[in-house]
Amino acid sequence: MNVTGMLRDDALKGKTIIITGGGTGLGKAMTKYFLQLGANCVISSRKLDVLQKTADDLEAETGGKCLAVQCDVRNYNEVESMIKAAYDTYGNVDVLLNNAAGNFISPTERLSAGAFKTIIGIVLEGTANCTMALGKKWIADQVKNRVVLNIVTTYAWTGSGYVVPSAAAKAGVLAMTRSLAVEWAKYGIRMNAIAPGPFPTKGAWERLVPGDLAKQLDMAKRVPLGRVGEHQELANLAAYLVSDFSAYINGDVITIDGGEWLQGAGEFSMLDAVSPDQWDAIEKMVRGAKSE
Ligand code: HXC
Ligand code: NAP
Repeated sequence: MNVTGMLRDDALKGKTIIITGGGTGLGKAMTKYFLQLGANCVISSRKLDVLQKTADDLEAETGGKCLAVQCDVRNYNEVESMIKAAYDTYGNVDVLLNNAAGNFISPTERLSAGAFKTIIGIVLEGTANCTMALGKKWIADQVKNRVVLNIVTTYAWTGSGYVVPSAAAKAGVLAMTRSLAVEWAKYGIRMNAIAPGPFPTKGAWERLVPGDLAKQLDMAKRVPLGRVGEHQELANLAAYLVSDFSAYINGDVITIDGGEWLQGAGEFSMLDAVSPDQWDAIEKMVRGAKSE
């Protein structure tokens, strides 16, 4: 696939967007596209050196403005300081993209209480901290046309073994998305989520399909479209959802996974393996079936 940007060049001009976890992976890809569309960006995470390099590279590449601010989303005071830095630099914040996450595969019985708490802390509490801190300010300032976009994943509603803390946390984020979409609509705040399927990134692949597991589990084979996602495909969807073009979309979760989760859920999806010859034989048997 040769995926290109989908929106017109000035689609996000004048908007300031905070992207948590914006220094790497999908957060970086979305930030790059927002900058190309004219937005001012703030990227935040724990590793300032990584953030600063990304901000410098993306500014050089796009000509946009990207501020790097260190912030552990688990710490409410750090979140408030990060938001203050965004306002001090740009005078406004229009969009919050809750993208930061922590995750790793493990049999649940091997997890310590601390391991569980760590993932819930980053994904659920971190998202709540950023949403609460910025939401309170937006409401107090009586500004309108504000957007929160949360990155979840499809196991937020199916659940998944071996990533139970992440599944529980993402389910919580999805519930928060739908709840606040209704409660805060009166303040002019929209709230949506994206549920990506597999999009290879270093951060996710090292923790979810490390070493030979990547070959053994070939994620593309799980997807009806037969491939993993491209970062620009996700960036296109995210840009649309934070733009004014999606102003009437509120409280939804948009899946972008090539049909992966439905294939897993469909009772008879495994019949893909049946050959045309076998289908001839099966049809005969089924047509010949007579109930007593
Ligand atoms: C069991 C583990 C573990 C492992 C850590 N722990 N790794 N337990 N198996 N592999 C335990 C530790 O022993 C500790 O428990 C607790 O978890 C916290 O670990 P720390 O290393 O101290 O935490 P921290 O430095 O805060 O790092 C957080 C992290 C790390 C989540 C463990 O992986 C990280 O920084 N991740 C950020 C990036 C990331 O995860 N990206 C992938 C997102 S992908 P004790 O009891 O000692 O306190 C994603 C995709 C979803 O979400 C869908 C895909 C299709
Ligand atoms: P990634 O590159 O590892 O991104 C995770 C980011 O979160 C990192 O930049 C990390 O930066 C930041 N982060 C972690 N803990 C943090 C904390 N306590 N405070 C602030 N920032 C923190 O992985 P990714 O694949 O791009 O994932 C991005 C998002 O997509 C996540 O929400 C993930 O769940 C979701 N997702 C990914 C996939 C996929 O296939 N890749 C599929 C579905 C959903 P620091 O280490 O510097 O803090």
